[in-house]
Amino acid sequence: MAAVTRTSESLTPDLYEYLVEHSAPVDPVLRDLADETARLYPDSMGMQIAPEQGTFMTMLARTLRARDAVEVGTFTGYSSICIARGLDQRNGSLLACDVSEEWTDVARRYWDLAGVSDRIELRLGAALETLRGLPDARAFDLAFIDADKTGYVDYWEELVPRMRPGGLILVDNTLSHGRVVDPGEDSPAVQGIRDFNDAALADERTEVVLLPVGDGLTLARKKE
Ligand SMILES: C[S@@+](CC[C@H](N)C(=O)[O-])C[C@H]1O[C@@H](n2cnc3c(N)ncnc32)[C@H](O)[C@@H]1O
Repeated sequence: MAAVTRTSESLTPDLYEYLVEHSAPVDPVLRDLADETARLYPDSMGMQIAPEQGTFMTMLARTLRARDAVEVGTFTGYSSICIARGLDQRNGSLLACDVSEEWTDVARRYWDLAGVSDRIELRLGAALETLRGLPDARAFDLAFIDADKTGYVDYWEELVPRMRPGGLILVDNTLSHGRVVDPGEDSPAVQGIRDFNDAALADERTEVVLLPVGDGLTLARKKE
């Protein structure tokens, strides 16, 4: 490993709170969605992205002037709202992929409340089938991968060819809560993330950075 001059901060709870307080405030719709998700699905609420990650993703979409986006793993809709809000106001569109009708019914309600229903198309079913079934010409400026971890490499292989030059693929949970560096950890999910991280780094079609945002957020830019 190369010499390390500085590292990212380890976030104590106080420092994390400060960071959230000094980012653009989360609006009432997203706050209500987080509250309802916690109430309905207390055991699964950890699947939702962190608030500052959502704000960051909206900003990225906006900065990229993204028009066409795709999300693999929608759950109750938090990240889809963040992405959709950053898309081109007139003709932006987000293809949201998930297997769960129950969870995405919640998402649909909040898409209405957030005023983004008109720019989100939900596809229920295994995301790999959905992606493989898209017309060859369907291209994206922004993609977000946040579903089953053993599928990440396959999603990547489907998405990279569909990204426009300069387009961004965002990939969640790429630190697996630190388990990626635990030699005793050999669960399929963590191994799936390790395989993905290695494959993305070796892929000459993209340049990647793994950021300590949330549980690890990889940004991969398709080369021009
Ligand atoms: C981590 S959650 C997504 C969280 C969401 N991005 C958010 O911010 O709220 C993962 C989602 O992937 C979905 N999922 C799991 N396996 C899938 C598959 N093979 N195809 C499509 N969706 C899948 C689950 O139903 C779940 O809603």
